[in-house]
Amino acid sequence: MRAIVATRLGGPEVLELQEVPPPAAEPGRVLIRVHRAGVNFADLSSTLGRYAQAPPPPFIPGLEVSGHDVATGRPVFALVPSGGYAELVAADFAWSADGLDLDAAAGYALTGLTAFYALRHVGRLQPGETVLVTAAAGGVGSSAIQVARALGAGRVVAVASTPEKRARAVELGADVAVGYEDPLPGPIDVMVDTVGGDVFTRALESMAPFGRMVCIGASSGEAQRIPGVGDLRVRGVGVLPFSMGAFRARHPEQFLKTSAEGIELIRSGALRPPVGQVLPLAEAAEAHRRLGSRATTGKLLLAVG
Ligand SMILES: NC(=O)c1ccc[n+]([C@@H]2O[C@H](COP(=O)([O-])OP(=O)(O)OC[C@H]3O[C@@H](n4cnc5c(N)ncnc54)[C@H](OP(=O)(O)O)[C@@H]3O)[C@@H](O)[C@H]2O)c1
Repeated sequence: MRAIVATRLGGPEVLELQEVPPPAAEPGRVLIRVHRAGVNFADLSSTLGRYAQAPPPPFIPGLEVSGHDVATGRPVFALVPSGGYAELVAADFAWSADGLDLDAAAGYALTGLTAFYALRHVGRLQPGETVLVTAAAGGVGSSAIQVARALGAGRVVAVASTPEKRARAVELGADVAVGYEDPLPGPIDVMVDTVGGDVFTRALESMAPFGRMVCIGASSGEAQRIPGVGDLRVRGVGVLPFSMGAFRARHPEQFLKTSAEGIELIRSGALRPPVGQVLPLAEAAEAHRRLGSRATTGKLLLAVG
């Protein structure tokens, strides 16, 4: 089968289109003929050797796919531990994509559900509360806007780097969009932060009493830092790091149970990660370049089959 292989650790240049043996159809696993593969920031981190759950090279990147179950022919979408940038991949579990757009479905499992977990289970968003989302026009960010709206947020504040991205965030449902250097309009009840660095540090001041700061990524390259917990304790502000991959690996059954409500949001259309760009599988390196250089909005996909 054709697959993109990370031949060694490094940037997009380490990705090569190769002919490789297909994965075996093992009992209890779902063999998927891939239609679209989601491209995630974690894929960039994994080729750089900065993603703890990635295998050592050579490996096939790709953590979420849509396609068809080879055994039954039914349309599905799934999370995979790696191997999504390929014509065939084996998953422990796949959700039915019956009635769903099979392109968009490649962004549901990781991107969509991470946004859902961040707000529903980790941030415990309550109706009427104010949400702040960083990199709000990005993959997880644009899904977080949709989830915030679906869960009844009172106000959604988007942070994004360019006027175009801010306009996009407002189209997706944010009430207001600001740049990273602008004052952050508080008080914020739940922050979903995928960026880290300065924006997180500044947001500490804008949090409402008993606010929750959900840290799910550090795309800026600088992890979130807290100056000390004394002030946060008095204000009741929580800093909550979360990795869906780690949670799923440790509690697979609980993951399936607790993600059911997120899957419902997907089926109802309330959570529909917008597809920004689709590139052919052979252009995976270009896809990584675009994602790493902030040149994308919404979900970036590879067209495989
Ligand atoms: N914890 C989890 O379980 C989990 C699951 C999925 C994803 N994530 C994390 O969520 C984040 C978003 O992932 P994604 O795949 O949806 O990517 P994305 O948000 O579509 O793309 C990354 C965005 O980060 C922003 N950014 C800020 N500083 C940047 C820099 N120095 N270089 C590049 N981008 C920068 C850019 O938006 P602006 O230009 O608007 O700043 C960029 O578009 C990543 O950090 C990823 O690791 C975590």
